[in-house]
Amino acid sequence: MKLHDVQGDHLTLLTPQNDKIRFHAIWLRDNSLDPTTRDPANGQRLVTLNDLPEFVTLDAAEVEASDLVVTFAPEGLTARFPLSWLMAHAYDVAPVSGMLEPGITTWGEEMQVYSAPLEELKNSDAVRRGWLSAMKRLGFAKITDGPVKPGALFDVIDLFGHVRETNYGRHFEVRTEVNPTNLAFTGLGLQAHTDNPYRDPVPTLQLLYCLENSADGGDSIVVDGFRVAERLRAENPDGFALLTQYPARFEYAGSAGVRLQSRRAIIELSADGLLQGVRFNNRSAAPIVDVPFEQMAAYYAAYRRFAQLVDDPSMAVRFKLEPGECFLVDNTRVMHARTGYSGTGSRWLQGCYADKDGLLSTLSALEHQTGMAAE
Ligand code: FE2
Repeated sequence: MKLHDVQGDHLTLLTPQNDKIRFHAIWLRDNSLDPTTRDPANGQRLVTLNDLPEFVTLDAAEVEASDLVVTFAPEGLTARFPLSWLMAHAYDVAPVSGMLEPGITTWGEEMQVYSAPLEELKNSDAVRRGWLSAMKRLGFAKITDGPVKPGALFDVIDLFGHVRETNYGRHFEVRTEVNPTNLAFTGLGLQAHTDNPYRDPVPTLQLLYCLENSADGGDSIVVDGFRVAERLRAENPDGFALLTQYPARFEYAGSAGVRLQSRRAIIELSADGLLQGVRFNNRSAAPIVDVPFEQMAAYYAAYRRFAQLVDDPSMAVRFKLEPGECFLVDNTRVMHARTGYSGTGSRWLQGCYADKDGLLSTLSALEHQTGMAAE
């Protein structure tokens, strides 16, 4: 790595591949790694932007071994940046193409379910890292060989974070006894959905842990909402845009003292247009009132197409949870469904919520520990 050029307000590095990467003086000054700017112990910034001169320039710069050493004017401060750090934080690069953050892979029915046994996840950082990494990439993963014991779901959350408690409690029961005297009885299937879209923010992870599943049917289905969004945009960019531009409404007022309401788009994008989340749940959809009259028919057409893609069998990964198995979904991305069930037997799952930031933090810490770059 060489220094190619130094101007007052920016400098240019030349990579071994002859790529020119520019950095602004103000950016370098704000990100200085010297001990007056960054706490050496915890890495937190010790100055505000307003503490820095408004017009920062580069007085001198040179590459010394594997560092770039820069002196800023008018302060006269000298700071040292490892070149590897600069490359890891380079912003003078081609923007992400497409709608997905790097490291995210969308899927349909062909997806190979990633699963690991609970004890191995508890005892091996390498197994846990692989499983958490699959969660990040796919938004879904399974765990097998857990104890068939109420409350075991909390052992799973302990692998990476904390339970998110809601008005449904620390956990909730999904339990049905199929009536053995009436074989015609059929448990209702549920369309694929994200949970609790009426919360803001939503619980970003959901865990469902199986304790009994002896009825016929009662399979679980998961659908990648990001793949649905990609397909909708490919088919109908205008309809896709409508679902991102206007908020839908969701509400839940099913128990005393609870009136949860949210106003959020069915497909949410980040400020720079990457997929950030989907909310889709017919049971808690409230009247949509934020779409202009002139756009409502087209909005409904796009909403219907989104729903058809959710129900398209080629989008669904289907499996039956056995007692002692569970799955985790990224509730901002992956929808879950249940097929109907019938016959004799019972179905008992325990569920709870948690949050993705804790999971990603644990993954990043494990990667850092083993020297794998999280970037
Ligand atoms: Fe659900």
